[in-house]
Amino acid sequence: MKPALGVLVSGRGTNLQALIDARLPIAVVVSNVAGAPALERASGAGIPVAVIDHKAFGSRAAFEDALLEVLRGHGVTHVVLAGFMRVLTERFLAEFPDRVVNIHPSLLPAFPGVDAQKQAHDYGVKVTGVTVHLVDAGTDTGPIVLQEALPVHEGESCDGLRARLLEMEHRLLPAAVRLLIERRLQRDGRRVRIG
Ligand code: GAR
Repeated sequence: MKPALGVLVSGRGTNLQALIDARLPIAVVVSNVAGAPALERASGAGIPVAVIDHKAFGSRAAFEDALLEVLRGHGVTHVVLAGFMRVLTERFLAEFPDRVVNIHPSLLPAFPGVDAQKQAHDYGVKVTGVTVHLVDAGTDTGPIVLQEALPVHEGESCDGLRARLLEMEHRLLPAAVRLLIERRLQRDGRRVRIG
């Protein structure tokens, strides 16, 4: 089966841009937020886009059904969460077993959830980093694919740290997605081996 990525986004889309620049095979970009700048990046690159606003649905299942319909319609084989700020359920994930990845701007399991960079900066950590993981039904809890550490500079502002983490994200996400679609990832429980 030829890989076809569905990229889910909620915001500005710099990680999506890194995937586009890496010439990965993106079949469709879906945003749960209308007007998200990520959509313009996709359209600019000639990639089909869709908006599925979670607020328009009465239940999580109905929202996910709509997502699945779009992804299936574009023959999506693998899903990338690139700044997608919704948690997906088992039912959705069962459609793409071990074929959904997420990027998160901390060394998980530290600082899951929203604004991990600020959480880490406020905490005063000396080292933080970036994680790409397979997605399970928890919040940033799935088995780790790639992880890289970044020392925090003495007196560094949160924005400075955020910018350096973002550069790392843009390198790690395309690398992890490439490993995924080249079938080089083998999961054994929580451990992901790279072959
Ligand atoms: C990125 O920093 C990404 O790691 C983070 O949202 C940002 C999206 O930026 N994701 C999470 O925090 C997921 N829990 P982008 O829209 O420019 O790619």
